Amino acid sequence: DAYAILSDLEEKCATPIMKLRQVSNAMTVEMHAGLASEGGSKLKMLLSFVDNLPPVVPSWTISRDEEGLYYSLDLAGTNFRVIRVQLGGKEGRVIKKEAKQVSIPPHLIVGTSNDLFEFIAAELANFVASEGEDFHLPVGRQREIGFTFSFPVKEHSFSSGSSIKWTKGFSIIDTGIGVGLDRRQLSQQNGDDITTGRRHCQLRVVGEDVVVELTKAMERKGLEMRVAALVNDTIGTLAGGRYYDPDVVAAVILGNGTNAAYIEQVKAIPKWNGLLPKSGEMVINMEWGSFRSAHLPMTEYDLTLDAESLNPNEQIFEKLISGMYLGEIVRRVLLKMAAEASLFGDTVPPKLEKPFMLSTPDISEMHHDTSSDLRVVGEKLKDVLEITNTCLRERKMVVEVCGIITRRAARLAAAGIVGILKKQGRDASTSDNQRTVVAVDGSLFVHCAIFGKYLEGALREILPHEVFETIVIKLVNDGSGLGAALLAASHSQYIEAKE
Ligand code: BG6
Ligand code: GLC
Repeated sequence: DAYAILSDLEEKCATPIMKLRQVSNAMTVEMHAGLASEGGSKLKMLLSFVDNLPPVVPSWTISRDEEGLYYSLDLAGTNFRVIRVQLGGKEGRVIKKEAKQVSIPPHLIVGTSNDLFEFIAAELANFVASEGEDFHLPVGRQREIGFTFSFPVKEHSFSSGSSIKWTKGFSIIDTGIGVGLDRRQLSQQNGDDITTGRRHCQLRVVGEDVVVELTKAMERKGLEMRVAALVNDTIGTLAGGRYYDPDVVAAVILGNGTNAAYIEQVKAIPKWNGLLPKSGEMVINMEWGSFRSAHLPMTEYDLTLDAESLNPNEQIFEKLISGMYLGEIVRRVLLKMAAEASLFGDTVPPKLEKPFMLSTPDISEMHHDTSSDLRVVGEKLKDVLEITNTCLRERKMVVEVCGIITRRAARLAAAGIVGILKKQGRDASTSDNQRTVVAVDGSLFVHCAIFGKYLEGALREILPHEVFETIVIKLVNDGSGLGAALLAASHSQYIEAKE
């Protein structure tokens, strides 16, 4: 019956301390391997480039003295955000900041990079044109922008890099569902080969220098803007977090996708063959979404989700943790309960059979339902899946499933964080017990309150008490937007002129 399926799920998704320790140890081992050589691990451990022109400047360092007007462009996936920030140097810090969020029309997400960047540049031009008098650009200066590109990029320099592949592939599908297309329709519209899962749009963009693309599009719009920094969202978040708190040493994104960046000693990066930056440190974009390990608690639902995905065998950690997938895992469990144990009656509700019908915000709302009759759960099942007249037993079952999948995700993310702390030597008690701050952002963390609680609970279990007391998991809302603008400022072409 449904209870048997539930208890089997609970058992397979279990994350006792031993398992979490194994996962965090495996993460640390893979981090070493990924730093040793290109392709040494599933973890890409991408280097964030430093300025290699002498004098060598540790490029990620935020001095807090930056001043002037800077911009950032934050391309997360289904939407992007443009930001302008007036920095006031030592005294003023952030004087004024304005942001605009734009969702990307679905036809552009599945189109060519040219069209996509054309659209972004047009929005950016509008944004610049709408600038109020509170923002000042000194006469004769070119506008400068930090570009946050939330996909894996092989950086060639601090402000150039080529995309390696698209991840969060389902953002295309998610968006499509939002406008009434199912996976097959979207794939067909996209010209994909559904049998191989190969996406044509991937082939078009991968390998291109995204800064060149953006610059060309801006030029076509008559926008005189220089891309001064190209960063991943994790690196932007780390930089933004550090601006306010010098103890930030790592950043984690828990959103549609998941990833982490942290500060590494350059001498611990064998694959780095450039000059040694003054600081001796460099930020690494781990791309931890692609982590995998035999210790990960995978279920039949995860295996089929992966096999049927557009990027099978890839982004396994991401598929267990991030917002793009949690709702879909829950749907798969409920489908089995409906088909094999007649949960929801004699027939399987048709909507429950549709991939990605249930989103992570849906399961989060159901999971947080505190009403005695689980009214919200009843409404969600009715509105989203067209399952009417559910009884309390069915609703409770749904809440249990949402809880198991969310808890596993949050605890695995915690294990990943411990892997980073271990690599940084911050997982064990030391005489000075330094404060360690992990900056976090992303819709999953922001909107699913219980996720953060589960994550902290797991950290408390894994880490020695006195170490746990020094760890701060800090929400840095839109840190990546500010971070990218700050990085643009610290790499301004006018810095030398100022000095
Ligand atoms: C945003 C950051 O807050 O979170 C982005 O500004 C980041 O840089 C995003 O990519 C990730 O979350 P989501 O939920 O949009 O994938
Ligand atoms: C995906 C991307 C990664 C990004 C993360 C969070 O995993 O590959 O670059 O940081 O999503 O947005």
